[in-house]
Amino acid sequence: MEWIAWALFALAVLLAVIFELLRRHQKHRLETVLKNEQKTLAALQQRFNLLQKELKRERDVIELIQKHMVEGILILDDSDKIQLANRTAVAQLGIAGDGWDQKSVFILTDNGEFLEALRKSKTSHNVHVRQTLKIDEKYIRIHINRIEMNGIAGTIILLVDVTFSIKAEKMRQEFTANVSHELKTPLTTIKGFGEMFGGGMITQKEDVQKYGALIERESERLLFLINDIIRLSEIEEHTDLLDTPVDLALSAKSALQILDPIIQRNQMHITLTGGCLLLKSNESYIRELFVNLIDNAIKYNNVGGKVHISISRMEQQAKIVVSDNGIGIPLHAQSRIFERFYRVDKSRSKQRGGTGLGLSIVKHIVDYHNGTISLRSELGHGTEITILLPIRHIS
Ligand SMILES: Nc1ncnc2c1ncn2[C@@H]1O[C@H](COP(=O)(O)OP(=O)(O)OP(=O)(O)O)[C@@H](O)[C@H]1O
Ligand SMILES: [Mg+2]
Repeated sequence: MEWIAWALFALAVLLAVIFELLRRHQKHRLETVLKNEQKTLAALQQRFNLLQKELKRERDVIELIQKHMVEGILILDDSDKIQLANRTAVAQLGIAGDGWDQKSVFILTDNGEFLEALRKSKTSHNVHVRQTLKIDEKYIRIHINRIEMNGIAGTIILLVDVTFSIKAEKMRQEFTANVSHELKTPLTTIKGFGEMFGGGMITQKEDVQKYGALIERESERLLFLINDIIRLSEIEEHTDLLDTPVDLALSAKSALQILDPIIQRNQMHITLTGGCLLLKSNESYIRELFVNLIDNAIKYNNVGGKVHISISRMEQQAKIVVSDNGIGIPLHAQSRIFERFYRVDKSRSKQRGGTGLGLSIVKHIVDYHNGTISLRSELGHGTEITILLPIRHIS
């Protein structure tokens, strides 16, 4: 009987060992599955993190773009609540910095013209409406696009500052009108006298001389005008480079030589102070600058008047001052004399062959050098024009 007990005991031990082996195997299997799942989870987590990072980066890029866009951008939902507005749009439409939530753009801005355009876009058949608004001295072109995506409606508005191009276009139109007018006057005179000559109406010797001289003077005016216009556009287009060392005092002397006949005729007293000062520039521009300034100082002066030219250095800038004790410029005209064709007294300027382009040419030359020009003038006492030009390193 004893062996039965032993056999049962052995069986029990065997069963216990089998169970233990099975348990261990199961545990190992579970652990492997768990490990694998953990690995998959970690990989998923990693991918998720990567996607999140990518999304954040994309969002940051979009935010950066819209933040720094010079154009304004505004996105509205179907009830005109602002979903997105960048800094430019907020500034252009005068929208308060916060508290946009759940508020229609119709409450957030009081810009009537903009709101009217937005209202119009809603009733228009076109999904794209374009209009130019004038906001605080600026011209803003707005593009209103009504959109619909997956059943969601909204509006995207782009606001573009077109002040520069509108002003440039206006200036171009004014310039063309002025040029046409300026060309027409002398041409009409020349044509009239030409017809009189041709028709045999001018026969007396004195008349022939008188009207012949008139035709010559008007033709000269035309030539001056055309030369000035060509010069102005050449300077504007930076045709000549500023790459040669120019001695300012020498250029001033060369301008005085050119102007010598009118200096003598008007018995002017001219003085020049300042020694050699080299500037990286273009000799013809600097001479032209002096000719125009000194010519004005003589032309708008009295016989026997004084003109002083001073050249000096102010840190990294060359300072040129041309002053006279002439007729001076009235206050209302002082901000306009650098405009093309602007003349305080048209007849006085014309009588002296002026086209009103001299100071525009000077201003363009100064701008090309990144310099500044300023003016001080007192009616009846004289004018002083100061120019500062940066001294660029001469290699
Ligand atoms: N030194 C000055 N004194 C008084 N008025 C001046 C002086 N310089 C310029 N002006 C005024 O500014 C206007 C514009 O000058 P600007 O040199 O551009 O033209 P302009 O002298 O009339 O013609 P242009 O120079 O083409 O011969 C002049 O018509 C004149 O009325
Ligand atoms: Mg002039």
